[in-house]
Amino acid sequence: PVLVVDFGAQYAQLIARRVREADVYSEIVGHDTPVEQILARDPAAVILSGGPSSVYADRAPAVDAALFEAGVPVLGICYGFQAMARGLGGTVAQTGMREYGETKARISDTDSTLFDGQPAEQTVWMSHGDSVSAAPEGMKVTATTPGAEVAAFEDDDRRLYGVQWHPEVLHSSFGQRVLENFLLRGAGIEPTWTRSSIAEELVASARETIGDARAICGLSGGVDSAVAAALVNRAVGDQLTCVFVDHGLLREGEAEQVEKDFVAATGVDLVVVDAQQRFLDALAGVSDPEEKRKIIGREFIRVFEQAARDIAGSADDEGHPVEFLVQGTLYPDVVESGGGSGTANIKSHHNVGGLPDDLQFTLIEPLRTLFKDEVRQVGLELGVPEEIVWRQPFPGPGLGIRIVGDVTRDRLDTLRVADRIAREELTKAGLDRDIWQCPVVLLADVRSVGVQGDGRTYGHPIVLRPVSSEDAMTADWTRVPYDVLARISTRITNEVAEVNRVVLDVTSKPPGTIEWE
Ligand code: XMP
Repeated sequence: PVLVVDFGAQYAQLIARRVREADVYSEIVGHDTPVEQILARDPAAVILSGGPSSVYADRAPAVDAALFEAGVPVLGICYGFQAMARGLGGTVAQTGMREYGETKARISDTDSTLFDGQPAEQTVWMSHGDSVSAAPEGMKVTATTPGAEVAAFEDDDRRLYGVQWHPEVLHSSFGQRVLENFLLRGAGIEPTWTRSSIAEELVASARETIGDARAICGLSGGVDSAVAAALVNRAVGDQLTCVFVDHGLLREGEAEQVEKDFVAATGVDLVVVDAQQRFLDALAGVSDPEEKRKIIGREFIRVFEQAARDIAGSADDEGHPVEFLVQGTLYPDVVESGGGSGTANIKSHHNVGGLPDDLQFTLIEPLRTLFKDEVRQVGLELGVPEEIVWRQPFPGPGLGIRIVGDVTRDRLDTLRVADRIAREELTKAGLDRDIWQCPVVLLADVRSVGVQGDGRTYGHPIVLRPVSSEDAMTADWTRVPYDVLARISTRITNEVAEVNRVVLDVTSKPPGTIEWE
């Protein structure tokens, strides 16, 4: 693999993704990983990421110069560029001047490995305080910016390269080209890591891990668990049983999608547990959002555990015990919980509502090296229906946290219709991929006066919350065209008897969260 050394900012994941977009497999390792360990993995190249710190800061992570003598191609980015300059005997100056955001870089050598075929002036995205003031010996300086005399350098003989700006950020107009030039020309890597090759590899590896044993998988209706299940099903067929807990808090058509379309497309063996009444009973009279979440999580675990025990109990014990629990954990979860560099602890069980450890299964997480967009590609490759693969994020507690007030069957039914109408119109307007998600919220504890036909009504408002986001950490409200909003509003007030008002949420995150509860 190409190893991306993470110096602690949020850039390493983005770099790893961009490398994969160039069809080259990459993984992230912590900056405290010893060089021998990095080299032991026989990396095709190493990329040193940006980081928050100054190379002069207390306890600033340094780079062991042995890395530069090992003959492995290295690219230093931002902080990694400066750490590289220092490690190779150059000088990094504390200029006290910050260069932040977009600026123009002058490329002095457009025949160089990194900048081959690119214009002499390009927009780049910067974020640095210190600057390299003298390049290490043997390094050819290939670019400057207003704030950095040495903004890029390279040494083709030793295959060492560096840039001060962030090529992984889309604002750097030739950033991806710079990365690709490093990977394909500088490091001479063949770009063979394609979506179909990933799917095949993951299937083979799941087959090897599971062997003759049996596995179970909790389906949530979401993309990740569906793709994980499809993958393991492809690997071991009917040794896998999937459990889908229908808690009644799903949107219209979702349970059917899992029960019919998903099964038809993938052939998985599915057990559906109808737990709707159980969840309604447990939620009766509860309006506090956190309490709702706790109840839903707790009931979910109980139902799943029981189903898992039933399946284990019915399994043919002679040689085929249920040994594995399949989870749809993704790479960002693995990296964020410190497991990026190997087998270290992972954020287990997060997909099926925090299943307890005493379930006594070995976890298998076939997607733990993938990013979301890659999971979607693998899903398509495995024949998972598009409606599931392209599904918007939907919270585990479902519509339970989209009813402001306590949850009843009637309120769920009302919200389901309003939600279906909003989804239909957004889809019709071709906006599905522009919107990250659009919660539809029923203000069940609020009433407002309306007039319909000749009569006064006293109904409830529905809130539309369309948001655009990259990762749900921050979000902006989506400027949905007025005519689309008008159609949604007209249809909801006409077709949903209890609703006489539709309002639009125009709050970004922060300060508002995406969900209302
Ligand atoms: P917020 O509302 O915190 O949501 O801005 C961020 C993202 O997480 C989803 N979300 C949840 N997902 N269980 C989940 O599995 C939850 O309790 C939960 N709360 C919010 C939300 O839909 C958005 O995508």
